[in-house]
Amino acid sequence: MLGNFSYCNPTKLYFGENSLENLSAELKKYGKNVVLVYGNNSAKKNGIYDEVVEILKKNQKNIAEIPGVMPNPTVEKLYEGIEIARKHNVDLLLAVGGGSVCDYCKAVSVSVNCDEDPWQKYYIDFDEPTCETIPVGCVLTMAGTGSEMNAGSVITNHKSKLKIGHVFADEKIMPRFSVLNPKYTLTLPHYQMVAGIYDIFNHICEQYFSGDDDNTSDYISEGLMKSLITSSRIANKDSQNYEARSNIMWTATWALNTLVAKGKSTDWMVHMLGQAVGAYTDATHGMTLAAVSIPYYKFIMPYGLEKFKRFAVNVWNVNPGGKTDEETALEGLKAMENWMKELGLVMNITDLGASEDMIEGIADSTLILEGGYKTLNHEEIAKILKECL
Ligand code: NZQ
Ligand code: ZN
Repeated sequence: MLGNFSYCNPTKLYFGENSLENLSAELKKYGKNVVLVYGNNSAKKNGIYDEVVEILKKNQKNIAEIPGVMPNPTVEKLYEGIEIARKHNVDLLLAVGGGSVCDYCKAVSVSVNCDEDPWQKYYIDFDEPTCETIPVGCVLTMAGTGSEMNAGSVITNHKSKLKIGHVFADEKIMPRFSVLNPKYTLTLPHYQMVAGIYDIFNHICEQYFSGDDDNTSDYISEGLMKSLITSSRIANKDSQNYEARSNIMWTATWALNTLVAKGKSTDWMVHMLGQAVGAYTDATHGMTLAAVSIPYYKFIMPYGLEKFKRFAVNVWNVNPGGKTDEETALEGLKAMENWMKELGLVMNITDLGASEDMIEGIADSTLILEGGYKTLNHEEIAKILKECL
């Protein structure tokens, strides 16, 4: 465990079938004016919206709403929400939904009292808020992003073909509390469930595939990956299996709440490629990651061979006996690819709506990060993307 770091995660979690019972106690900590934020139809259809509104009313809150937060929330929707929150003199932003709704609330939180353009300030210049921010609470309905316990917020700008995530430096931007009821995830369509599962897996990979020291974070990551693989196989066959879905939900939170990044440089290039594909296609986040992963990992494998071998042996139970390190590592990636296909993930960007003529543009939109085993250049990004078609 080399390096120096601090760790602080102030999000209070309430987990389990009865977790919503704790919402009342949390609400008492904030002022009267609550802005309730949710997506399209799912929360109304499955009754979660009604349950939350009843609790808000019992606590005599003045409720304003921002409905219709779309998957991959847009900058236009952000501007609309800021106005609603300002008019309501908001004390608490309450997200009821998945990562998109929770991310969106954080973006509104840092923008309500900001007199600059939030897109430019937070997503182009990567500035930190200098204004007072609004507390965010979350009732999570989809497992995947980890947004319920982190300070990340991803916003899409279709005009400039950019999908950009800002991980805010101040822990105050993390939700103050999150209600995690695995039952709420049971109504997710299979496509969203498996996209979320792969998102979780890839968050762990992005942090695991970096560095070469002996680091406790890597051992935790391997445990999380094994739990996820086991539970995903159960949930894939029996989507109503509460135990599997609860493990998936808990793993999602720990996969991206800064814990397993401790002492690591972290890679995040699958996310950069996936987000650029998302900016062009508006495809589901987890599927964009699945579609670019195998060509990316095959490309960088020679630069991080030791770790890829360890991944094969410790996560996928590959027997290294009589094999070269490269053969063992490749067998690990093959096992991962087979698992992805078993879940029914989208394995190429063509099926997400990308085409060859978009490759240069997608490569231009891909932010290049330097924490992984190989820093890519523009040509290498374009080459990998072509292999993803
Ligand atoms: O809009 P509704 O009708 O609610 O439907 C949603 C949406 O269509 C549906 N859904 C959610 N809960 C449901 C449900 N349907 C039935 N039953 C339920 N219980 O699922 C669809 C997808 O929801 P969304 O919130 O978009 O999914 P996800 O949680 O994957 O969030 C994706 C967004 O998070 C960002 C992504 O880029 C993307 O914009 N990310 C945020 C991160 C972070 N904060 O750290 C990291 C991630 O890597 C990711 O980039
Ligand atoms: Zn992700």
